[in-house]
Formats: sequence, C-alpha cells, structure tokens
Amino acid sequence: MFKRISALVLAGLTAMSVASCGGGSGGSGGGGDGSITMGFAQVGAESGWRTANTKSVQDSAKNAGVTLKFSDAQQKQENQIKAIRSYIQQKVDVIAFSPVVESGWDTVLKEAKDAKIPVILTDRAVDSKDTSLYKTFLGSDFVEEGKKAGQWLVQEYKDAKDPVNIVELQGTTGSAPANDRKAGFAQVIGADPKFKVIASQTGDFTRAKGKEVMEAFLKSNPDIDVLYAHNDDMGLGAIEAIEGAGKVPGKDIKIITVDAVKDGMQALADGKINYIVECSPLLGPQLMDLAKKVVKGEQVPARVVTEETTFTQEQAKQVLSSRQY
Ligand code: AHR
Repeated sequence: MFKRISALVLAGLTAMSVASCGGGSGGSGGGGDGSITMGFAQVGAESGWRTANTKSVQDSAKNAGVTLKFSDAQQKQENQIKAIRSYIQQKVDVIAFSPVVESGWDTVLKEAKDAKIPVILTDRAVDSKDTSLYKTFLGSDFVEEGKKAGQWLVQEYKDAKDPVNIVELQGTTGSAPANDRKAGFAQVIGADPKFKVIASQTGDFTRAKGKEVMEAFLKSNPDIDVLYAHNDDMGLGAIEAIEGAGKVPGKDIKIITVDAVKDGMQALADGKINYIVECSPLLGPQLMDLAKKVVKGEQVPARVVTEETTFTQEQAKQVLSSRQY
C-alpha cells in the first residue's frame, strides 16, 4: 500500500516536473533586487524543438537568478490550466507559458490578472480578444514560416506544367503553429492552381505520429510529389515511412519542414530533406529580460518576434557542426 502511495506521489511530481533553479524565494522577490519567481507551464516534450526550448528556459533562469517553477503539460490543455492555477496559489511573481492550443484561456488568464500576477506568452499565442490578459507575446511569426515554405516550393516548381501533389503533416490540432503554418503556406501556393494539397492531417508534432500518418498517405496516394511537415520531427518520422515504402526521400518525394533542429539539419545535409524554415527555440534569455521588466512594472512591447532564417541543403552542410541544438 505504502509503495503504491509513494508511486502515485512520485508520478504526480513527475507529471508536474516541478523543478527549481536560481536563487530567489517563492514569490517574495518582486523584482526589486532582480530575484523573482517564475511559474513556467511548458507544452510537453513532443519534439527536439521543445527539448531545446525547455533547456533554454531552464539555463536562462539559472543565469538570470530567476527561481523557476517548471511544469510539463504533456500536450494537454487541462494540465496547463492546472499548473497555472497552482502558480497563482503559490503567488509567483510572473507566469510564463506556451499554450498547447490557441483557444480557451480567458478564464484562467482572468484569474491571474485578478491575482495581479503578470502573464507572458512565449512561443505560442492565444486567441483571447482581451489582450490586457497578458503583458507580451514572445515568439516566432508562424504565418511567415508557412509563407517561406510555400515560396521555396513555388520557386522549385516554377517551370513545372503538371500538377504538383502535396501532402501536409500538420502540427497539434488547434495550436497556433499548426493553424498559422498551414495558412501561410496555403496563401502562397494558392496563387497557382497547379499546386494541389491532396491530403492534410495532424501528426501532433511527433516523430511517431508523423511516420504513422505518412504511411497512410502513401497507401492511399500513389503520386505524392511533395511533403510539407509543420516540424522536423514529423518530417523525420515520414522519412522512415517513405523509405519503408521503397521511395527515396528528398528525390522521389521532396520534403520541406520547419524548425532546423540538429536531426533535421543532418537529414537536410544528407539530402533527405530539401528545405528547412528555421523556428528558434532559444527564447530563454529574452524571456527572463521581459519577466524582470514586467515584474518591475516597466513597459514592454506587446509583441516580440524572434529572428529566424531558412536553410538549403548546402547551407545545412556548412552550419551543421556549429548547431547548438
Ligand atoms: O510551437 C513551436 C512548435 O512546437 C515547434 O515547431 C514544434 O517542433 C513544437 O512541437
């Protein structure tokens, strides 16, 4: 019985993955001496990008002397809401989170506002009409990322006369990167009717689901020319499916992905992926700066957009050895 209770307690702690680093003391610092407590509600550990993002946040908190209370929502909105409520109860100085999905945040954000705890959105946005519910949003422009993917495709097939059959692996349903990367891409390729998205389904940003969904795409669509995957991990899973079907990734099926994590860049350098649009996970240092400012009551920009680039196969070969994540 004791063993079972211990296991349950341990499982609960692991699910919340509460970790503290830095030197402040639970919600009392208030930023006066720079020592503040941040509650950070992470999406999960679904991808290489997410692992790098978590490390960036944890390392930066340590370097900035911010006490970090960290929770992993395992890609579930209800877990994130629970974590945010627990941070409110603990009276942290600031809450930061990367929302799993865009909708359904108003109630808990209102609770944080009523408790006078500032909230920073990081990586992903919410669709709340009331923008006073959070202080700032730090992260990428996902629509722009989708457009960059589309622009490469339009250029690559500029002389093609036949239809170009595209399959799309979407990120987590309802998440900002899935919604926006789809919209940006569709906007660019929509200008030419030869580009046809013949199948589009979620792979939940994971390698396993990317492989599974690509296997199904290959079974029902014999003539796939292009795969557009909303992240590297799904693209890497899909490569396994393509090879399993006896086709050559990067040649028989051209592949565009988003992120540029090391494994994706390796596949790009190896010729298995054709183009990667970068999405930087290294948000930690900027997040800590913003957090200190909002706790002090200083003005911060409503939107801070991350700087990013794109990579061809040749560019990947050049930068691979110095890639941090
Ligand atoms: O929100 C950023 C996205 O989430 C990354 O592109 C993806 O890899 C991650 O899971």
